[in-house]
Amino acid sequence: MIKRNILITGGAGFIGSHVVRLFVNKYKNYNIYNLDDLTYSGNLENLLDVESSQNYKFLKGSINDANVINNFFEEYEFDAVIHLAAESHVDRSIANPFAFVETNVLGTVNLLNAAKKYWGRNCVNKLFYHISTDEVYGTLGETGFFTEQTPYDPNSPYSASKASSDHFVRAYGETYNLPYIISNCSNNYGPNQFPEKLIPLFIHNVIANKPLPVYGDGKYTRDWLYVVDHAYAIDLVFHKGKLQETYNIGGFNEWQNIDLVQLLCQIMDKKLDRKEDESAKLISFVKDRPGHDKRYAIDASKIKEELEWEPSVTFEEGLERTVDWYLNNEIWLKNVTSGKYQEYYKNQYQS
Ligand code: NAD
Ligand code: DAU
Repeated sequence: MIKRNILITGGAGFIGSHVVRLFVNKYKNYNIYNLDDLTYSGNLENLLDVESSQNYKFLKGSINDANVINNFFEEYEFDAVIHLAAESHVDRSIANPFAFVETNVLGTVNLLNAAKKYWGRNCVNKLFYHISTDEVYGTLGETGFFTEQTPYDPNSPYSASKASSDHFVRAYGETYNLPYIISNCSNNYGPNQFPEKLIPLFIHNVIANKPLPVYGDGKYTRDWLYVVDHAYAIDLVFHKGKLQETYNIGGFNEWQNIDLVQLLCQIMDKKLDRKEDESAKLISFVKDRPGHDKRYAIDASKIKEELEWEPSVTFEEGLERTVDWYLNNEIWLKNVTSGKYQEYYKNQYQS
């Protein structure tokens, strides 16, 4: 069995924690190093079940600091990077774009520089795997899908920063022969997602009997994927994907926001033993998000055909599992919604 030292960045966040768990449990021959700066969305409580595993180590630090990264590369001799650390919320990028440039663009370039320096020009068995988003492609009209050939056309500061990081990864591949793969995924949902994104925010608000702020007319469309299925896709792409290529990952699962929110409310009414339609009464249409992308939908046929990946969980199952997780993890929810969260909520929804 091949030994590998794998650096996973952003492993204390939502998707990263599911990827860390999968790799630590499945690949005992790999040493998994989780580098995370524990920003507002990073939470070591997400990884309590793996923290004492022999093949796991947490490294506290920011990808924005080149010295920190170089020291870790020197000490732990990583031979692969799975890069998830990022500022990830569109609304925050509208309020403060610069933080997105710092982490998503400069932080990624810091990591690329370290990989280039420590791997040199002989990059045998090395891989820089960059986790990106479908938002780099911009927005779709009523029909069509994003393919790996769709030109980049980002509309928010978040997606512009992710697009920029993708371009840097590709450029390091072309210019310095750095072995890389990029995957661009659609909207994830599931346990451990910070309650600023649509699904966990609305679950939190239904529990607290607070309004459910639907932006604009609610007719915006997203393609939803259960986070564990994204982690499985990342595992496959990491081990079997072709170098210097891109893979689109999606749920084959488009929903208009308002329909999704109605379904979520029905599930929550049942789980909370509420009267039919009680939670839906909390729906409140509010001012739209500026530059709001109308529709995202991924054509995931490349990963399906080349790597035989497809989602294992239906949306109804995944949503029910997600609701159950939040209802069973009240302390987690309480801890992440105290303190600074209240300030964020007030600025975003009450000013
Ligand atoms: P998240 O916000 O839950 O987690 C981000 C993690 O990165 C946190 O643990 C945070 O502490 C860490 N981090 C932030 N800045 C850092 C820095 N400077 N140095 C070190 N660590 C830092 O985000 P997520 O939803 O898990 O997204 C993970 C990645 O997947 C991101 O790159 C995102 O663009 C991408 N992505 C997300 C989705 C989605 O639907 N959530 C879909 C496609 C792609
Ligand atoms: O497509 C992948 C992207 O999905 C990821 O790259 C991002 O990291 C992730 O945040 C997500 O971006 P979205 O902007 O699509 O996700 P969000 O959960 O913020 O919003 C989903 C939809 O719900 C979107 O149309 C906006 C709407 N919305 C969101 C919030 C937070 C509301 O109507 N009200 C809200 O309060």
